[in-house]
Amino acid sequence: MSKLHLGVLGSGSGSNMQSIVDAIEAGTLDADVRLVLADVADAKILDRAKRHNIPCRYLDCAPWKTKLEGPAEDRCIELLREAGVDTVVLAGFMRIVKPGLLAAFPMRVLNIHPALLPAFPGVHSWTQALDYGCKVAGVTVHFVDAGTDTGPIIVQKAVPVLEDDTPETLHARIQEQEHIAFPEALRLLAAGRCRVEGRRVRIAR
Ligand code: GRF
Repeated sequence: MSKLHLGVLGSGSGSNMQSIVDAIEAGTLDADVRLVLADVADAKILDRAKRHNIPCRYLDCAPWKTKLEGPAEDRCIELLREAGVDTVVLAGFMRIVKPGLLAAFPMRVLNIHPALLPAFPGVHSWTQALDYGCKVAGVTVHFVDAGTDTGPIIVQKAVPVLEDDTPETLHARIQEQEHIAFPEALRLLAAGRCRVEGRRVRIAR
């Protein structure tokens, strides 16, 4: 068992970060959030962090629009290290992270993706699942590797696709499961129960 010191990177509403903070405050996750960084200056995730007195700041990632690279990546790593972060949580961070961050926190960067990977990587995956005619959709929490949404899977949760679903209703159902899945994956990590063997994450009993 080892308490996790989390750094959260986000771009939007921060509901996943909220679920992690709620789990910590409820005493069901042995962790603290040391720092929240957002690449969008007015992202709601920063307001949520402030409400919980969690250090947070805007990280200017220019000139890149879709990745975290160069001086912004260096700065990000520096800030996370200064804050004593040992585990990086991508909670709706709409950028591709590069090898520099992954090397700084080896097998300690986790992402949440709103699909049952390897189906529907990339953006708007719930719409992709709906358009494809899937009867089941879901969410995946995984370690991040050099690919996009390709790293070893820690937790998955399935949700049904209902006859009258719209992208919005399906996404909302998936998000309910996200808020269970992310704290669950972090709990496994904190308990030292995840062992990565190639593509597989073995979960110790
Ligand atoms: C979630 O749907 C997550 O799966 C995806 O981005 C969204 C972030 O939502 N990666 P929030 O900012 O945590 O509310």
